[in-house]
Amino acid sequence: PLRVAVFASGGGSNFQALADAIADGRLQVELKLLVCDKPQAPVVERAAKAGVPAFVFRPKEYPSREGYEEEILRRLREADVELVVLAGYMRILTDVMVQGYWGRMLNIHPSLLPSFPGMHAVRQALEYGVKVTGVTVHLVDGGLDSGPIVAQRAVELREDDTEETVSERIHHIEHQLYPQVVQDIATGRIVLEQLAGRNQIKKDGI
Ligand code: GAR
Repeated sequence: PLRVAVFASGGGSNFQALADAIADGRLQVELKLLVCDKPQAPVVERAAKAGVPAFVFRPKEYPSREGYEEEILRRLREADVELVVLAGYMRILTDVMVQGYWGRMLNIHPSLLPSFPGMHAVRQALEYGVKVTGVTVHLVDGGLDSGPIVAQRAVELREDDTEETVSERIHHIEHQLYPQVVQDIATGRIVLEQLAGRNQIKKDGI
């Protein structure tokens, strides 16, 4: 099975959705590693319960972002990880990771990108007053929540919505969509190389 690592910084409900999908056979991949930059994050406990090894680190203990990313890369290679899945990993990646897993690293974001990148995407959508927002899964390039889009789902906003009610609907969709996309990659229904190739041309300025 496809060897996958998940990066997360927080609650880890998307990590859990992936682990649950594996446990009940909807997702045929192997979770080789959790990478987490916050020792207190609930996702660390979830990984322990799911029997997934974790690399938990404190960014401050490294001289630079490149420093800990090189350590992460070493561990990913050690575990022969083929696909990296960012799930609420709240750090901008440097070229070390972006180049190291170019075309093999996904992120999930709670908006219809390219609208509302960054933090608080749901709040941004509500403040703007859009009528439809959603969820995006995309390949990770060097930008903030940018890169070729792999999948999207729409979420309609209602008059009485709050950040909380929208976040709940968005999480629900994320928990279905992410395992499904990863399974489609594992079975070859989604071919990331095609998407990655297209964007590489743009990146080179052609
Ligand atoms: C998810 O909603 C994800 O889309 C978002 O963080 C949440 C993590 O939730 N990611 C971003 O905003 C990326 N810019 P979780 O820890 O419960 O999986």
